[in-house]
Amino acid sequence: MTVCEYSPGLEGIPAAQSSISYVDGKNGILEYRGIRIEELAVKSTFLETAYLLIWGKLPTQDELSEFETDILYHRRIKYSIRDMMKCFPETGHPMDALQTSAAALGLFYARRALDDPTYIRQAVVRLLAKIPTMVAAFKLMRKGNDPVQPNDDLGYSANFLYMLTERPPDPLAARIFDVCLTLHAEHTINASTFSAMVTASTLTDPYAVVASAVGTLAGPLHGGANEEVLVMLEEIGSKENVLPYVEKCIANKHKIMGFGHRVYKVKDPRATILQSLAQELFAATGYDDYYDIAVELENVIAEKLGSKGIYPNVDFYSGLVYRKLGIPNDLFTPVFAIARVAGWLAHWKEQLAVNRIFRPTQVYQGEHNLPYIPIEARVVAIDSNGNK
Ligand code: SDX
Repeated sequence: MTVCEYSPGLEGIPAAQSSISYVDGKNGILEYRGIRIEELAVKSTFLETAYLLIWGKLPTQDELSEFETDILYHRRIKYSIRDMMKCFPETGHPMDALQTSAAALGLFYARRALDDPTYIRQAVVRLLAKIPTMVAAFKLMRKGNDPVQPNDDLGYSANFLYMLTERPPDPLAARIFDVCLTLHAEHTINASTFSAMVTASTLTDPYAVVASAVGTLAGPLHGGANEEVLVMLEEIGSKENVLPYVEKCIANKHKIMGFGHRVYKVKDPRATILQSLAQELFAATGYDDYYDIAVELENVIAEKLGSKGIYPNVDFYSGLVYRKLGIPNDLFTPVFAIARVAGWLAHWKEQLAVNRIFRPTQVYQGEHNLPYIPIEARVVAIDSNGNK
């Protein structure tokens, strides 16, 4: 076994062998099971893409229809999960609500039969089907309103927007939202997928796996950035303020949300597609002035930080699309989670076939053989500035 040099954040260290997706960060290429994301965004749907990611092949029409029907049948959540949500504080973040309710699913489907393909398929269907319902339910319930039951006449993405806004979306909005889910479905061994894999490697249940991943995605350095981008655009307020804002961030070494990536050193191909989706939405539903600020920000950062490979990532334009679709800012990351459940489950299933519990090593930097000092003999160390 070769022992690798320590690399902070495991940068550049392969943690798995996988055939689910491929990223070429230098040339801005993303493929799901070998198919370019640009093709899937135009020609596929989220559920077909989820099937491709999880089972490794594009489904036949019968396979896809059966998968879609299974998911439609499992969209509802137990009333006891809804009752549990009623106890969540109104001010709670929807990602915390989602992590809690995803883990709660494990209380109802506690059986673990990880070597049974039927169990695997049931878990995949239940999680893909119920996560959107839980996200939408919390949005209404946190205001003291009853959640909206899924509408079986609507497709996956249209139904989510219906449960969220209490009215059926127009077909353009449903299609654009579905493309957003496809774009966010998978991205090799990112932090939340790695979290899912580590949790999965102990052979716990898939609901705990997804709950771990949701908690990881919530952070502002990862999926939480999409919500922070809108906060930033609101703070900047106008195109004229962009340059001074960027200069201040650089001076203070403050990371600019929606920019930069561990792998991409050019514009994230998903950001390019999301930008065009935003423009398509604006043409149909009216302009968003924040878009001008966003484009100016992209141009200024290309000039100031382009040489360091800092370009827009997937989180930069997604919020402008979601805003136009009537999705509240603090639900942007739960929407990311709805999509990424497909990728997390694909890696969960792939890993189970060759599982080995994750247990990395460390570079120890502590002391050895120190004596135990009795409490009465312990003194508080004071540094040269007189601090404890
Ligand atoms: C996602 O991994 C994935 O695939 C994730 C994701 C997925 O689909 O799962 O693509 C989704 O998480 C996208 C990223 C969303 N996060 C953000 O937008 C938050 C802002 N971005 C940064 O925090 C950062 O770019 C990361 C976390 C995304 C990547 O950080 P790295 O690879 O650890 O880079 P780094 O912190 O080592 O920075 C390298 C240099 C530093 O400058 P120096 O100290 O060398 O002078 O680049 C600078 C950083 O200061 N830098 C930035 C910056 N990102 C990096 N400077 C200003 N603004 C930024 N956003």
